[in-house]
Amino acid sequence: MRMVVKIAGALLERDEDVQLVARQIAELARARHEMLIVHGGGKIFTATLARMGISSRFISGLRVTDRETRDAAVMVFAGLLNKKLAGAISLAGQPAVGISASDAACFLAEPMQIEDCEGGLGFVGYLTEVNVDFLRSLWREGIVPVASCMGLGADGELYNINADHMAAAAAEFIRADRLIFLTDVAGVLDGEKVLRAVRGTDIEDLSRRNKVSGGMILKLEAAKRALAGGVSEVRIVGGTKPRALLSAASAGRCPGTRVLPVIRPATRAAHGAAQ
Ligand SMILES: Nc1ncnc2c1ncn2[C@@H]1O[C@H](COP(=O)(O)OP(=O)(O)OP(=O)(O)O)[C@@H](O)[C@H]1O
Ligand SMILES: [Mg+2]
Repeated sequence: MRMVVKIAGALLERDEDVQLVARQIAELARARHEMLIVHGGGKIFTATLARMGISSRFISGLRVTDRETRDAAVMVFAGLLNKKLAGAISLAGQPAVGISASDAACFLAEPMQIEDCEGGLGFVGYLTEVNVDFLRSLWREGIVPVASCMGLGADGELYNINADHMAAAAAEFIRADRLIFLTDVAGVLDGEKVLRAVRGTDIEDLSRRNKVSGGMILKLEAAKRALAGGVSEVRIVGGTKPRALLSAASAGRCPGTRVLPVIRPATRAAHGAAQ
């Protein structure tokens, strides 16, 4: 099976969590699944920026990214976190390489424009292309690609991409069978209860009733677009439980929340443009 696994930044904070996730990724890769790992790291990045005396500003959940913030993003996402995860998978017995936009121009981006934002979002982009041949060459050798959430622009600049947007768009571009979001909660929660399934049409309603907020809205929207783009199965699962990823990747019952399409997936739309 071909799958994209998005790892929450929160799961990269503790070594035990990193190793737990890495062992499961290695096991799935050994079973010859073709995997693309995409990782976030927003909270770690915000804390790093604070240490550097740079404040964070968000518009519609997206980080306003000036040049200084972008340069720091490359250091944290494409540097520290990316290498930490690739190293843990490699030590778990399956070779992994950390890749970011510039490497073999593997992820291309265009700057994102949003309305009513004076000065724009800066170096924030959306994914427009994936170098699938490059990924295939890694899979052929049994190597797991671990991608940071950035894209290379036609102007040679690196653009920060929201990790959920990136994972969903990449899943569509590589025609993944499954997209798994490993996050820091057990799934989409309604109070204490984990919702077994959320339909694309429910998202607006859940948000209006304040049942879902913040990063989870972005994730559900990304999930919905991936489904519309032809990814047949999208799962949101807690990443701290032992074997959570293995069961999310199996044919069995989803251990967290399944996101269901609005209608039956028909065509693979131009996903990137919708972001
Ligand atoms: N109904 C909900 N169910 C679950 N989580 C929710 C809900 N509403 C809001 N959230 C928040 O969404 C968070 C998950 O999104 P968040 O963006 O923080 O993490 P992530 O996307 O998994 O990782 P990262 O942003 O580092 O890539 C949860 O930790 C929780 O605080
Ligand atoms: Mg998030």
